[in-house]
Amino acid sequence: MIGIFDSGLGGLTVLRALAARFPDSEFLYLGDHANVPYGNRPSDEIVELTRRGVEELFKRDAKLVLLGCNTATAVAARRLQQVWLPGANWPGHNILGIVAPTVEAATQTPWAVTTPQYPQKYTTDLLAVFGTTRTVTSGVYPEEIRKRCPRMRVFQQVAANLAGAIEDEAPEDELDGLVAEAVRGLRAQTNGVEPDRVILGCTHFPIVERLFAKHLGSSVRILSQPEVVADSLEHYLERHPHFADCSRAGGLHMLTTGSANEISARAQVFWPDAPTFQHTKT
Ligand code: DGL
Repeated sequence: MIGIFDSGLGGLTVLRALAARFPDSEFLYLGDHANVPYGNRPSDEIVELTRRGVEELFKRDAKLVLLGCNTATAVAARRLQQVWLPGANWPGHNILGIVAPTVEAATQTPWAVTTPQYPQKYTTDLLAVFGTTRTVTSGVYPEEIRKRCPRMRVFQQVAANLAGAIEDEAPEDELDGLVAEAVRGLRAQTNGVEPDRVILGCTHFPIVERLFAKHLGSSVRILSQPEVVADSLEHYLERHPHFADCSRAGGLHMLTTGSANEISARAQVFWPDAPTFQHTKT
């Protein structure tokens, strides 16, 4: 069984792509709705909340946990993979993030390759990354992209309150206003030049991708992070089939640290077939 962790509903955008890609696999989703949003929290808190979520999924038999959250990946993944997991009593378990596959897709360069490869397909593209405060301040996207494509122009834009508003089922005009404000912030940085490509670097944001598409204009290509993550997990499972072996029974199991009824209803607003949630503590 493969675990998917997010601060709230955002990881469902990833889970939905994975469920479509691996219909025979079994996934266990955990949304930490008791603590959402993570994006404006201090880093140490995000690391601890993510560790608790991962451990809960491990305890429930997920051997592999994918962080379906850019904030948790940007802030906590490395520490959990390199410091916590080797000292914890979870042999044979692993944690994956979603920044690496997204950088690979944006740069068309494998993660393992950390120097520019020429000729580069997207050498001089203007790329915009929208994210939470903590993802943007981590600087992980521009840093990892520029290592591989140093001539790519990368701009980051915080959309600080958007994930929280999506969680709270804010009305469409409020969501529209927050997206418009983020796009204006980006244009102020680029002096009005439109990006060639955009990464919605928060898994909540694809839920309002229609609003980004509207405000960015039709020439801008929005990279689909859920699809990119599904591609990457497929390759990972080919290379590590023992994680795939434990996911044969099929089915989606949903946990939330919030109210199960409330979260089940909210999930169905944008994913009508979303399975119902059960409450858990972490
Ligand atoms: N969905 C998450 C992300 O990808 C976190 C949003 C939040 O909790 O602030 O960044």
